[in-house]
Formats: sequence, structure tokens, C-alpha cells
Amino acid sequence: MKIGIDKIGFYAPHLYVDMNKLAVARDVEPAKFTIGIGQEKMAIAPITQDAVTLAANAAFGILDASDKEKIDYVIFGTESGVDNSKSAAVYVHGLLGLNPHARCVEVKQACYGATAAIQMAKGHIALNPESKVLVLGSDIARYGLHTGGESTQGAGAVALLISADPKIMVLEDQNSLYTDDIMDFWRPIYSDKAYVDGKFSNEQYILFFNKVWEDYKEKTGFGLKDFEAICYHLPYTKMGLKALRTVLDQGTEEDKDRLLANYEFSKTYNKNIGNIYTGSLYLSLLSLLDLKEDLEAGSRIGLYSYGSGAVGEFFSGILEANYREHLYVNQHTELFESRREVSVEEYEVIFSETLPTDGTNVELEIDHDPAVICLAGVNGHSRQYINKLR
Ligand code: COA
Repeated sequence: MKIGIDKIGFYAPHLYVDMNKLAVARDVEPAKFTIGIGQEKMAIAPITQDAVTLAANAAFGILDASDKEKIDYVIFGTESGVDNSKSAAVYVHGLLGLNPHARCVEVKQACYGATAAIQMAKGHIALNPESKVLVLGSDIARYGLHTGGESTQGAGAVALLISADPKIMVLEDQNSLYTDDIMDFWRPIYSDKAYVDGKFSNEQYILFFNKVWEDYKEKTGFGLKDFEAICYHLPYTKMGLKALRTVLDQGTEEDKDRLLANYEFSKTYNKNIGNIYTGSLYLSLLSLLDLKEDLEAGSRIGLYSYGSGAVGEFFSGILEANYREHLYVNQHTELFESRREVSVEEYEVIFSETLPTDGTNVELEIDHDPAVICLAGVNGHSRQYINKLR
């Protein structure tokens, strides 16, 4: 049975900061952020957006009435969850009015969560070919003002509809996994900001890539020649390039040119959004699909997922015939074009605005937020979400 991505959409908040201006404010050479790290714009989440609303807005853009009826499983990958008990998937299920006969859960393994969710979805569809699974990868990357990781923050969500006979990409069954208990990046329950050993995490990302790539090649007999493009988890866009460069000498000049050229397409959305943690790999895939207009059906795309702590996986997909007809390119172009730049000072104010943690009720101003689905406040320790169209 062919199982894979039937629909894919994304959402990012309407505010961003320019990385050149952030560099100047931090007394850093702008080229360090734009070339050394590879980021141009960083999406900023206002207080009226959290992991739940970002994911709900991403899914809202792609689901029709028939999908809502057929979805019987919502799997929400995140490392910015809003509740230690109730899953973010249940909130999204309610906000979108999905079929009540559905299972809803949240999964966590840093930036690997959405990939675990996709593999769980594949297993579910193998047993229930008629069903559709909504996989969400949604996060707000927060390292803190004036920190080493600040230039690699971001916010956004990707929504994937996984089904049998998918319209966009069939996910192949071969994959390779690697897990090791390391402390390269983590966020203790009491902290709203991540802790990271930046250099170590870079090294481990590449080490894990080499482990899963070598294992995958051995299992499948595939090599660089078999891939039209390889998409990477992109905490910042230079990271995937560093990993890709470690294997390029395994191919011909043609392989090298093709993979490097397609890498450019696969990083464009990410360099304008920043790190969205578990959705980042799929934002990169979306960037490639939306922007590389002559990517042919039948092409094999490699996918490298990495979640600190750490789990790595390499797997692949084949593009279906007429897949382009099922992309939401115009919606994404409009999203990028309608964003508003904020100054570094405004960004600092927005970043520092947090919800009360002492049980105080709060009502938030949602009129300034163009998103359909917003966080409108907190009442009795309970987040109040609004779908403006329901
Ligand atoms: N022009 C061009 N490039 C420049 C430059 C300039 N003026 N100044 C510095 N650079 C380059 C550096 O040479 C380096 O490139 P390289 O990595 O290819 O050698 C890059 O910019 C980053 O510089 P560095 O000094 O290493 O940055 P840093 O100490 O501020 O740390 C991170 C960068 C990514 C480690 C840090 O932002 C971080 O911790 N991020 C979060 C963790 C993360 O994303 N981990 C990834 C795995 S999940």
C-alpha cells in the first residue's frame, strides 16, 4: 500500500525581525547572521499565538470538510507544549471541529517529534487504509535575549495530512535510526527557554547524520545518485549544508551540483522564518516543493530528522504524479508578503511578554493578530482559544 503526504501546509506568525538589524543591535557583524548562520528574517510570535494556535492555523489552511470527517487520529509533535497533561492535539481537534470519533495525542522528542508522529501515522494507516491522520509539528524556539542561540529562534507550524494513495509524496518503508542519551539541548520543565551546548549540538547533528546515512545506504544500496534532493532539519540554514558537505565527495560532480542547487530551494522558507524546531524539516521540504517548480514527479527526496537529546532518522519519499496541483503555493506566498517587520526594540518587548503563572486571569487583545485562530486569554488556569470564523 502506498502511504504518505496527501496535503502539507504551514503557518507562521505575522511579525518578524530583520537579522541584519538584530546583528547591529547585538554588536555583531551582520554577515555572521546572514552568511555564517544563514538566516535573514526571524518570525516572532505575539502573545496571542502559542504552539496550539500556530498548528491550528496551519491545519485550518489545508483541511476541507471531507478531511475533517475522515481524520481519526491527530498527532501533535511539539517541544513547546502548553500543558503537562492535556495534549495540544485535543485543543486543535476542538478548534477545527474534527470528527469526534478520533484519537488525539501529543508526542515529544525535541525536533524529532513530528517525524515520530509521521511514522506512527504510517503504521495506523497500514492497519486502517480508509483513515487520514493529521500530523502537526509546531513550536516557538526561545533561547533568550542576548544569548548565543538568539539568532536561531523562530516560530511556526507545519500540518501534514497522512493517508493511503497520497497526492504529494509516498513515504518509502526503508529508514535508519540512531539514538544516544546526550545533553546537547534541553528545556527543563521550569524553564520557558532552552539550554544548549551550541558547538556540541552542531557536532552531534552531523555525527548522527553520518551514522544514519551510512546505515541507510547499507540497507538500501542507494547512494547520492538516487536522490534529487536531501532536506534537513534546519535549526538554521547553514546547519544542513554543513552535514550535506560531509558526504558530497561520495557522488559525481553532477550529484554534487544537483544536491547543492536543490539545497538552496529547500532552505528559502527556513531562512525567512527561523527555527521552528519539530516542523523545521517539513518546512524545508515545503520550501523545496513550492519553490523548485520543475522538480519532477518520481523524484526521490531524502529527509534527515534530528531531535536533540538525541534521536536521528534518515528516510525518503517519492513525488507523486501531478503533486504540484496539490500544493498551496499562493497561500504561502501571501503569508510571507503580508508579514510586518518589527524593530529590535519591539521584538524585545514582545519576547518579554509572557502569560501569568500565578493563576491571574488575563484577557488578550486579539484584534491586532490577523490569524484566524488566536489565544484570547487565560481564565481559571485555562487557556481561552478563539477561532474567529466559528
Ligand atoms: N561573516 C561570515 N561568517 C561569519 C562571520 C562573518 N563576519 N562571523 C562569524 N561567521 C561564521 C563563523 O565562521 C561560523 O561559521 P562555521 O560554523 O561555518 O564555522 C558561523 O558564522 C557561526 O559562528 P560561531 O562563532 O560559531 O557562532 P556562535 O558561537 O554564536 O554559535 C550557534 C552559533 C549556531 C552554535 C548558536 O547560535 C547556537 O547555539 N544555536 C542554537 C543551537 C543549535 O541551533 N544547534 C543546532 C543543532 S540542533
